[in-house]
Amino acid sequence: MKNKIAVIGAGFVGTMVIQRIIENNMADVVLVDIVEGIAQGKALDMSQAAPIEGFDALVTGTSDFSEIRGSSIVIITAGLPRTPGMTREDLVKKNGAVITSVMERVIRFASGAIVIVVTNPLDVMAHLAWKLSGFPPERVFGMGGVLDEARFKYFLSLELGVSPRDIEALVLGSHGEAMIPVERYTKVKGIPVSNFLSPDKYADIIEKTKRGGASIVELLKSGSAWHAPSASTVEMVEAILRDSKRMMSASAMLEGQYGIENIHIGVPVILGAGGIEKVCEISLNDTDLEALREAARIAREMVDQLKTGSHE
Ligand code: APR
Repeated sequence: MKNKIAVIGAGFVGTMVIQRIIENNMADVVLVDIVEGIAQGKALDMSQAAPIEGFDALVTGTSDFSEIRGSSIVIITAGLPRTPGMTREDLVKKNGAVITSVMERVIRFASGAIVIVVTNPLDVMAHLAWKLSGFPPERVFGMGGVLDEARFKYFLSLELGVSPRDIEALVLGSHGEAMIPVERYTKVKGIPVSNFLSPDKYADIIEKTKRGGASIVELLKSGSAWHAPSASTVEMVEAILRDSKRMMSASAMLEGQYGIENIHIGVPVILGAGGIEKVCEISLNDTDLEALREAARIAREMVDQLKTGSHE
């Protein structure tokens, strides 16, 4: 029997996540959206591509959360995307309410699942989801670093004229503009990137990477990115389904690592069948460590603003 995965939110990110999963025959999927008909319609449309694309994974759509029963992974993409001019506080409040209502159902119908949060602001939403769930922290985390690193590698590859596959990068901290790309771990085929780029050029690329998501929002006028976010999410799903112990950056719950406690923030982890099987504590210079702690402090402040009413 195939694995079953639930995707909550039948928007751009959710449907693209599913398309990637079913076209690779990775699992059967149930798509859930609060708006009646939207998940059903999109699931039907995607299913009808099966004979052409040659997959036999099943996708069903529903607005009834009880159909997520039996899912080994729940991916949460429900919520509003960032729009130009929207304050961070507004987004935190609105998406905080969405995560709260979704998690009530996840607890009821899929309490054994691994939960991957994609809804922004990522670290805050991942922490909120975990806090509400009562699940062990290794089972509730956010997708952020994989995407930030992909953007970073892409911009580096363009500048260097090297395949993005030969670039290694590590991006820590909050997902988004406050991300922390770590220079000493940025390499081209193992060779430090400083061998190939002037400090000015490197700084330009960092700037572009940090604005990677925001510049797409500005261009689209409404909505935010979904192609690279869905690819990044499925990369994590694959590591879990195959128990491949991949080292990836994820928004993970820290419990003293890096001197940070009780907040989700982007760090390298080992991802396998159990979810986050290890939070890796690597050596950082003082500047990067300070930036990571500051990112955690800001995320913590936003979580505190939410006043979820849960028992922490
Ligand atoms: N339960 C289920 N679905 C919900 C709920 C809810 N409580 N609230 C909203 N939704 C659904 C909406 O009906 C919509 O179909 O979530 C979907 C969101 O889709 P889009 O608006 O297309 O947003 P998308 O681009 O997919 O982004 C979703 O991922 O990358 C992040 O920042 C992004 O937070 C945003 C999320």
